[in-house]
Amino acid sequence: MAGKIITSTIAPELPRKEHNPYHGVDLEFITIDTVCDHDLFLLQEGRYVLYRKRSLPFSMKDKQRLEQTRNKTIYVFCADEQELRRFYEANLPNIIENPNIPTEKKAQVLYECATGISHEIFSNPDNVETIGKSKVVVDNTMSLLAKGSDAFLQIISLSSHDYYTYTHSVNVMTFTVALLSALGIKDERVLKEAGMGALLHDIGKAKVPLEVLNKPGPLNDDEWTVMRKHPSFGFEMLSEAPVPERGRDIVIQHHEKINGVGYPYGLRGDAIPLISQVVSICDAYDAMTTNRVYQKAKKPFDAFKIITKEMYGHFNPKVIEQFIFLLNLKNKK
Ligand SMILES: [Fe+2]
Repeated sequence: MAGKIITSTIAPELPRKEHNPYHGVDLEFITIDTVCDHDLFLLQEGRYVLYRKRSLPFSMKDKQRLEQTRNKTIYVFCADEQELRRFYEANLPNIIENPNIPTEKKAQVLYECATGISHEIFSNPDNVETIGKSKVVVDNTMSLLAKGSDAFLQIISLSSHDYYTYTHSVNVMTFTVALLSALGIKDERVLKEAGMGALLHDIGKAKVPLEVLNKPGPLNDDEWTVMRKHPSFGFEMLSEAPVPERGRDIVIQHHEKINGVGYPYGLRGDAIPLISQVVSICDAYDAMTTNRVYQKAKKPFDAFKIITKEMYGHFNPKVIEQFIFLLNLKNKK
């Protein structure tokens, strides 16, 4: 099928918000004793007054001194939304570990940073350096998930209701890491590599023509042939990227099904590693529970009805059961 290759369609441009360059931040968010790389200001009598130049570290003494003057907010100068996200990104490990910041706020900052980085990755799918940033997303998500089930529920409550490849990828990564942990996988390295694979599972869609990717109706045979190549495209695209083998294997295996009806290889049962089985169900679940061009989002209970009935044989029953348990859907309809 003829079709030009379009590489930026899976990450449409983000909506522009009105941006005030002086962004108020609670002092707890600033990492102590590090150079914050942004000028810091205080708001005094309606004017922003420079407090600390970007080249100087922010110390515990600074924090205490400001707290004594009842100054709980400091203003960070960020010229645009992207720079603001970089500020949060740089302080993310501190934000997640800081016991004085509520889980809800941590989840919010994490989700915004994660979707921002994911957008960056899917906008530049051939840039190996950008792809390497998937590690930042996974590491910080794992740190927050390790704080308990409350953190998981907070993150998923924020997930986008509309389907975009870059938000879907963050959702699938979050579900994957949480579900693998619930299934007893405790090896951090395995979880991290699985998380990277989950985040990048659909990167190959960047090589699928726009008219196929966004077609509002069913695909014809030729279109399906191209669409079904995206796992192999992704595997190929990541050959030079800093992505571990386990992560790349997920990319090529995420449409395989336990009963052998999947693609590209039609693998069966245990021939599909557990981590790929997990990504596969998380992918299907998130795709069903978000709004698509051709269908409205399904309720979680209805999505599982399809997973267990119409898609019977596609997924590992033990994984399905644990997923239902993880989402706390046991007694809900
Ligand atoms: Fe896919």
